[in-house]
Amino acid sequence: TYVITEPCVDVKDKACVDECPVDCIYEGERALYIHPDECVDCGACEPVCPVEAIYYEDDLPDQLAGYRAVNAEFFAELGSPGGAKSVREPVADHPVVAALPLKQA
Ligand code: F3S
Ligand code: F3S
Repeated sequence: TYVITEPCVDVKDKACVDECPVDCIYEGERALYIHPDECVDCGACEPVCPVEAIYYEDDLPDQLAGYRAVNAEFFAELGSPGGAKSVREPVADHPVVAALPLKQA
């Protein structure tokens, strides 16, 4: 799966959402999250993010490695909706994201 990481927080450019062929990028209040079971690893989202927040899971830098679990755990209650358009967004953020200091928009 691909993973959205800390640079997305408080930026939420959403260029990635338009690229995803399976609509598996879901919106939280302060960041977006990729559904690990719905992502088909097409990679289309990664190059369009203006803040380079998106990584293939095996390419995550060490300091962002925790975001693999952050993305997965975001869906603990949502399950696998099969498409972000079927969910009323934004969904409450993962606690790791919610606890980050506010960045200037
Ligand atoms: Fe976030 Fe980048 Fe997408 S800022 S919403 S991961 S384009
Ligand atoms: Fe979508 Fe990116 Fe995965 S475009 S299918 S979230 S690699």
